[in-house]
Amino acid sequence: MADFDVVVIGAGPGGYVAAIRCAQLGLNTACVDEWKNPQGKASLGGTCLNVGCIPSKALLESSENYERVTHDFGAHGITASGAQLDVAKMLARKDKIVSDFTLGIGQLFKKNKVTSLHGRAQLLGRDGEVWRVGVAGGEELRARHVIIATGSTPRPLPQAPFDGGRIVDNAGALSFAEVPKRLAIIGAGVIGLELGSVWRRLGSDVTLLEAAPAFMPAADEQVAKEALRAFTKQGLRIQLGVQIDKVTQDKKEVRLEWRDAQGAAQVLSADKLIVAVGRTPNTQGLGAEAVGLKLDAAGRIEVDEHCRSNLPGIYAVGDVVRGPMLAHKASEEGVMVAELIAGQAGHCDLNLVPWVMYTAPEIAWAGKTEQQLKAGGVAYKTGQFPFIANGRARALGETTGFVKILADEKTDRILGVHIIGAMASELIQQAVLALAFSASSEDLARTIHAHPALSEVIHEAALAVDKRALHI
Ligand code: FAD
Ligand code: NAI
Repeated sequence: MADFDVVVIGAGPGGYVAAIRCAQLGLNTACVDEWKNPQGKASLGGTCLNVGCIPSKALLESSENYERVTHDFGAHGITASGAQLDVAKMLARKDKIVSDFTLGIGQLFKKNKVTSLHGRAQLLGRDGEVWRVGVAGGEELRARHVIIATGSTPRPLPQAPFDGGRIVDNAGALSFAEVPKRLAIIGAGVIGLELGSVWRRLGSDVTLLEAAPAFMPAADEQVAKEALRAFTKQGLRIQLGVQIDKVTQDKKEVRLEWRDAQGAAQVLSADKLIVAVGRTPNTQGLGAEAVGLKLDAAGRIEVDEHCRSNLPGIYAVGDVVRGPMLAHKASEEGVMVAELIAGQAGHCDLNLVPWVMYTAPEIAWAGKTEQQLKAGGVAYKTGQFPFIANGRARALGETTGFVKILADEKTDRILGVHIIGAMASELIQQAVLALAFSASSEDLARTIHAHPALSEVIHEAALAVDKRALHI
């Protein structure tokens, strides 16, 4: 039996960050995680580091470089003949980035004196004010505070169960040993579009089958429209409003029988199928029922705005609770909970979580979409500016897209910022800061922006809110 102030279950971006912050605040902290890498070794960092954010961005960068060499450098007067693709080397580079980072978390734990334990953890019960947590194959831990950060796993589709061969989840899709000639993807969400982009750039013929009738319904409609146009032009075949009837496979291929938006029967054959239809919170085997931990209808741990569960001393953060399934949201909640446990004030505003899709063009937004403002009856004004009119974008050859700013009609306070274009992932942070400080579009318009820089597109969009953009 070992005693701690805090036991954190899960070492993804929610859990490991919570554990480090707890330790920084002087709390005696243990973090238990069960993840094993393909070599069977314990690997910290959860979904994000092992099979999510980090490896997907590594492959997005490699594949974009390949596309630049094979398609884009000609415009710069650079001819690169005989470009070769070494998929094994590309995957090895990705795996090295992952292992460096996962090992790095172990070092951060050591530095901060977080006790790191490997195994599956389970809530056993409470003695007085102290929770007992069992670790499979290990000792029992005791702590007054438990932070659950068990994350999520890919949602399986009954018609197309994952087999790790032809039908894969995100982990499989990040490790194809060779470029599939024909790649089918069920779900045109974030994973489908990012990983579909990776393999298309490397040479796959990619078809995405999406159940929703609208493309990217969470994004601003104008951005979604521009994105659909750009992705279709690149060669991604995106079918909306589909229903998957049956998926079969033989030694040669996987065969999907599906219905299109008009209800007509269709067949698609492919060498690989990625199923990316959302993720399920990890609460199985956690002992939730035994200790009376309340889950919501979607199976997530029910928490208040401070990530407190219905049980005293038990908190939950990240993908296993409500809100977007994003690494930075998980981490921010982890910090908040650690600070609350240490008696400080903690806060995490879910309205200020930026969304990013690392496709090309990148897509990012923060705050409200235009359709949300309309639905809420909010009077607003808009300012928009295209990347094609920006000097840096022209120099980069990245001219697709625009920045759109939505501001309150009367007060001018910024309500939402939507970006489709180069480096949207970096540019959006300026918007998040503006939203966090309740800035007006006038504040942005009066801020000096370096020239030439992509951020000038935000500056011009802010000027455009007041119909005084200078370069259009
Ligand atoms: P996780 O990262 O899932 O970690 C949970 C950990 O808990 C795991 O290690 C798990 O093994 C462990 N665990 C579960 N149950 C137990 C138990 N009972 N005992 C012990 N350990 C347990 N988000 C972004 O913000 N940006 C991106 O670019 C991005 N890209 C992504 C790309 C892909 C392909 C995928 C799949 C996801 C991506 N995400 C991205 C989402 C991001 O990975 C998640 O939102 C994030 O990992 C959630 O963090 P978490 O700590 O809540 O859970
Ligand atoms: P998602 O929710 O983004 O997309 C799933 C898509 O599948 C939806 O468009 C949905 O309508 C569709 N779908 C559901 N059932 C279907 C069916 N039966 N047939 C056809 N289509 C169906 O989920 P995804 O892509 O699996 O990613 C999971 C989560 O991981 C994301 O929600 C996001 O939070 C996170 N993520 C974040 C990234 C980022 O921040 N850049 C990158 C990748 C993942």
